[in-house]
Amino acid sequence: MRDIKELISQMTLEEKAGMCSGSDFWHLKGVERLGIPQIMVSDGPHGLRKQDLSKQGDHLGINDSIKAVCFPAACATAASFDTELLYTLGCAIGDECQAEDVSIILGPAINIKRSPLCGRNFEYFSEDPYLAGELAASQIKGAQSKNIGTSLKHFAANNQEHHRMSASSEIDPRTLREIYLRAFEICVAKAQPWTVMCSYNKVNGVYASEHQELLTDILRGEWGFDGFVVSDWGAVNDRVLGLKAGLDLEMPWGGGTDSLIVKAVQDGSLDEAVLDQAVSRILEKVFRYSENRLDGARYDKDEHHELAVRFERECAVLLKNEGVLPLTKGDKIAFIGEYAKKPRFQGGGSSHINSFKTISALLAAENIGGVTYAPGFCADKDETNDEWLAEAASAAGNAKIAVVFAGLPDIFESEGYDRSHMRLPDSQNKVIEAVANANENTVVVLHNGSPVEMPWADKVKGILELYLGGQGVGEAAVSLLFGDSNPCGKLPETFPLKLSDNPSYLNFPGASNKVFYSEGVFTGYRYYDKKQMDVLFPFGHGLSYTSFEYSNLRLDKDALPDDGALTVSVDVSNTGERAGKEIVQLYVSDLTCAAVRPEKELKGFIKLSLEKGETKTATFVLDKRSFAFYDADEKDWRAATGKYEILVGASSRNLPLKTAVNLFEASPKQLRITQNTLMEEILANPKLAEAVQEFFKTPSVLQGSSEEASEAITSEMMIRTMMEAPLRTLRTFYGFSPEKMDETVSYLNSLL
Ligand code: BGC
Repeated sequence: MRDIKELISQMTLEEKAGMCSGSDFWHLKGVERLGIPQIMVSDGPHGLRKQDLSKQGDHLGINDSIKAVCFPAACATAASFDTELLYTLGCAIGDECQAEDVSIILGPAINIKRSPLCGRNFEYFSEDPYLAGELAASQIKGAQSKNIGTSLKHFAANNQEHHRMSASSEIDPRTLREIYLRAFEICVAKAQPWTVMCSYNKVNGVYASEHQELLTDILRGEWGFDGFVVSDWGAVNDRVLGLKAGLDLEMPWGGGTDSLIVKAVQDGSLDEAVLDQAVSRILEKVFRYSENRLDGARYDKDEHHELAVRFERECAVLLKNEGVLPLTKGDKIAFIGEYAKKPRFQGGGSSHINSFKTISALLAAENIGGVTYAPGFCADKDETNDEWLAEAASAAGNAKIAVVFAGLPDIFESEGYDRSHMRLPDSQNKVIEAVANANENTVVVLHNGSPVEMPWADKVKGILELYLGGQGVGEAAVSLLFGDSNPCGKLPETFPLKLSDNPSYLNFPGASNKVFYSEGVFTGYRYYDKKQMDVLFPFGHGLSYTSFEYSNLRLDKDALPDDGALTVSVDVSNTGERAGKEIVQLYVSDLTCAAVRPEKELKGFIKLSLEKGETKTATFVLDKRSFAFYDADEKDWRAATGKYEILVGASSRNLPLKTAVNLFEASPKQLRITQNTLMEEILANPKLAEAVQEFFKTPSVLQGSSEEASEAITSEMMIRTMMEAPLRTLRTFYGFSPEKMDETVSYLNSLL
C-alpha cells in the first residue's frame, strides 16, 4: 500500500479539497501527477447499475446502464433468512464489479421498515434490526472478500420517501439505538463496510450529513468504523460543517464547494488536519481497490442468472396452502394476470438494473404442458375490462387450479415517493375475486416490495409471496409452484390486516417536515405482539411442502453473568414426505420489568436443510446484547438482573418451545438514595426494605382519624400509595422532620 501520509504531504490544498468530492456522477477525482487513480462507484445493490460510459444521453445512468444481472431485491433476500445466501450474493456482485472496474457498490440499504408505505421498502430488509444487520453484514463480507467496497446506506433513520431531503426524524435515544441504528452497528462490528452513506434527512433537527454525534461520536468513536463516510447523492447542506462533523466525501460532484473547504482552511475556520484525515480515509480505500484490482476479470452472465433463479427459490414465502400446492404437472392449470407474462421483479429508482434477460413464468412453464393463460389485468397500471374479466373467470372455470399472478405496478411503489395506501390495484382485487368465484382452487402469486391488504385471503387456497424476485423470478415461481423446489422463505416483516393497524399509522409521514417516531421501540411485531393484535401473516411466518417438529430445547446453564455467553440448542426434525429447509427462530423475552420492553425480540435464526426423516440440532450463542435494552439515562446497554424467557420455533407466533434463564449484572447499577428516590426502588432492595418497614411503624398522619376517614383511606391503601411516592413523603405523611429526613437518607445509603 502507498504511504498515504507521505502522499498527502505532497498534495496541494486544492488537490486535497478536490479528493473530497466526485468529479462527476460516479467517479472520484484522481491526481495524475501523484499517481492517485480515479475510481468509479456504482449503484446496486441487488445487481450492478453501472452507467454505460460510451453513451452520453443520461448522465444519471438510470436508463443508460450496462446490461447486468438483476438478483432478488433485499425485500426478497431478507425472506431467505440465509446468511450464506447473502454472502454468495455479495461475492457474485463483487465479481461483477471486478469485471466492470467498479470499486464500490452503493449498498446494501438497511433502513428499518417502519411503515408498509415507505416507497423504498423493497430495497430494505426488515422491520427487525437484528435480521437486517446480520443479513447485510454477510452481503458486505461477500462483496469485500472480492476487494470491492460497499456503502452501507442510508445512515440514519431514513424510513420514508416523503420529504426525504428535508424532513426531520424525531426519535428518542433508546429507540434510535435499539431500532434504527442497531443494524448499522451490527454491520460495522461484523463486516467493516469500506464506506457508510449518510442519508438525506435530518435526525432530531440536524442533517444526517452534518450529524457529529452520528457520523463521528457513535459511528467511529463507539463502533470503531474505519472507512469513509460518503453523502447520499446531493445530501450535503453545508460542506464545511459536514466535513467537521465526519462526512468525508461529497457525491456526486461538489459543484464548486471544494473552494469553500480551501477558503475555510485559509481563513482558519477549518483545521487542515480535519481535511487531511478525510483525504487519508478516502485514499486508503482508493488504493485498497486499485492495488487489488484483478485485471482481465470476467464473469459469466448466464451462470449469474442461474444464481438469481436459485436465490429466488430460497426467498419466496409460501403464506398459505390448503392442500392446493404443489401443482401436478400435466393438470389443466390457468395462469391469470399479466405478471405471468411480464413479471415485476425489481423496483424503480437508483437500484434499477438493466437486466440482461428475463424468463416469465409462462415461458418457464411452456414445456410442462396443460397451462393456459388469460391476461386478466394490466401489469403496469390499475386496469382491467369486462372482456378480460370474463376471459379470466372462464379460464379459471375450465382449469383444475387457477393461479393469479398479481402484484404492485411500478407506479405504486418506487424510490422518491411513498405509497398512499396498502392495497393492490382495484382491478387486480376484482379479478382475484372473480377467479376465486369461478374456481375454488385458486392460488395467488404476489410480486410486491411491501405488504398488501388481501381482502380475498379467505377465498383462495394458496398464496405464494415472491416479493421482487429478480430476473429469475418466473423460473423460480414455476419451480416452486410445481414442487421441483420446496418453499423455504419466511416473512421478514409483519403483514398487518389493514394499514391503520400499523404502529406508525398516526405519525407517518408526519407534518411540517417533522416525523415523530412516537411508537418508540414498538415497530412491527414488537407492537402487534404487545397489543395482542391479530395480523394477516406474522413476522417469521412461512410454510413448506414438508413439516417440521421442534424438540429438546436446552441451555448450557440456567444462570449467567451479563458478560457471559449462553448456548441454546434445539432439535428440529423433518417429519414430512420430502426434503426441505426450516428457518429456526429464537426470541428473547425480558421478564425483569427493568424497562418497558417488547413482549419478545428476535435474537437468533438458523436455516437448516433437512432430508425427509432427518433431525438436526440448531445451536445459538447468546450474549449480553441478546438480553439488553439501551438505558438512555446511563447512555449504555443494560441487561438487567432477573429472569428471561427463551422462545424457539417456526415464526413469531408459533413458538412451541420455551425455557427460562437467570441473568445477573456483573457490575449492577449503583443505587444512591436521595430524598427523591422512589419507595418502590427502596423496597426492591431487601436490606433497605427491612429498614423502611421500621419507619412505617411511625404513626402516620392518618392515625387517630375518624372511622369514616380510615375507611376512605385504609392503611393498606396508604402503603400502596407510598409505593408510588418518593422517600420524602415520609415527611408529609409520617411526620419526619427535615433533620430526620437527612439522617434517614444517610442511614439508607450506609446500608448499600
Ligand atoms: C439514493 C442512493 C443512491 C444514490 C446514487 C440516491 O438518490 O438515495 O441510494 O445510491 O442516489 O444513485
